Amino acid sequence: MPTWNDAPAQALPRGFVWGVSTSSYQIEGAVQADGRGPSVWDSYSRVPGHIANGDTGDVACDHYHRYAEDIALMRGLGVGAYRFSVAWPRVLPAGTGVANEAGLVFYDRLIDGLLAAGIDPWLCLYHWDLPQALQDRGGWLNRDIAGWFADYAGLIARRFGDRVRRFATFNEPSVFTLFGYGFAWHPPGTTEPADLWKAIHHVNLAHGAGVDALRQAAPAASVGAIHNVQPARPVQQTAADEAAATLLDEYWNKAFPEAQILGHYPPALSRAIEPFIQSGDMARICRQPDWFGVNHYSPIYARADPAARLGFAWADSPPDVPRSPIGWQLDPAAFRDTLIDVHRRYRLPIYVLENGAGAVEKPDASGEVNDRERIDYLATYTGALRAAVAAGADVRGYFVWSLLDNFEWGAGYANRFGLVYVDYPTQRRIPKASARWYAEMIRAEKARATR
Ligand code: FCB
Repeated sequence: MPTWNDAPAQALPRGFVWGVSTSSYQIEGAVQADGRGPSVWDSYSRVPGHIANGDTGDVACDHYHRYAEDIALMRGLGVGAYRFSVAWPRVLPAGTGVANEAGLVFYDRLIDGLLAAGIDPWLCLYHWDLPQALQDRGGWLNRDIAGWFADYAGLIARRFGDRVRRFATFNEPSVFTLFGYGFAWHPPGTTEPADLWKAIHHVNLAHGAGVDALRQAAPAASVGAIHNVQPARPVQQTAADEAAATLLDEYWNKAFPEAQILGHYPPALSRAIEPFIQSGDMARICRQPDWFGVNHYSPIYARADPAARLGFAWADSPPDVPRSPIGWQLDPAAFRDTLIDVHRRYRLPIYVLENGAGAVEKPDASGEVNDRERIDYLATYTGALRAAVAAGADVRGYFVWSLLDNFEWGAGYANRFGLVYVDYPTQRRIPKASARWYAEMIRAEKARATR
């Protein structure tokens, strides 16, 4: 069995894509510019206590105004692709109905700028910033949302399908449903299990309807969804914790890909969601995607808790494991195994659309950000990816999270994941040592591929 250590020179498939990822609410700012409507993250982040330091995405990286500079940064990295998301409330301020031309024009310019720089745009429709107007109509608890989402997907495909080929419906549906309706860590911030089950099913219905709308409006589109996939482990080796981990695995790793690709829910969830499933629904959800997007950082842990309404509780990773500067477990073997498992289970081309390391950092006296630990992380994790390829996994691309430091949800601006440092008061961008490392790695890979 190869390990990540002995496969550094493992050749990657021809055309392997190196990229970077971001998302709309985390970088755009300009939340009131040019007719953008509010999103659930605007509302949620304004509630005291929700976000560290009271941070909001109001300004973020001001990417809305600085996108040209950010494209130039990507060009400097030499990436072949950029994954971003469209802010639904920027293009449809009320969520449905009349489109906001100024919002669409922003993405026209972004896409045209990327293409002119030789960077392939990967467009994700939903990275969690639901229009507040739709939340006011029930949000993911209203079954009509499948149609609202399909209309939005059709608008985007009609507008950009002449220039964008890669479309994703959702980023990490299990995170925003479980954190939003199970643990109250994300909007709407509630903890009613029946709402969580309903939301999961409606997101899946929206996915199916969205895929149909994308393919209808842009027949050449290559369509997928982006799933966070990580081993869900028991915090202790007890039968009760193991049962808790099995449940967490259903919510975290299986609720969406199994329904969308295999046409069924995993066993425990299937019983829970049953009351919300109408005749024909599983056929509406199940669509053969063109690829499988994997986001992966570290393993997650569950423990049994008789008081937990979902049948499991979230647990911290064990105290003795290696950790990143923000406390996330480092376990490249789990990444390798995840890629192999996804390959075996779904038999689709895999693109890693998020992987990276968070830190609390600032420039040194000479103004440089020497992020050695991030370089080590990226080197080790891309090594694990090579090991997965050596073991037969069909992995075709790798995107670092993230191009820029940005609004990291509940952690606000405290946790930095960027290859490029953002000095928020001045909005100055400072490429970190890891940006140079990534650029050099891509350059070497390109040279190898043309030999
Ligand atoms: C993922 C999210 C992304 C970012 C990274 C660190 O779960 O998709 O927006 O926050 O984690």
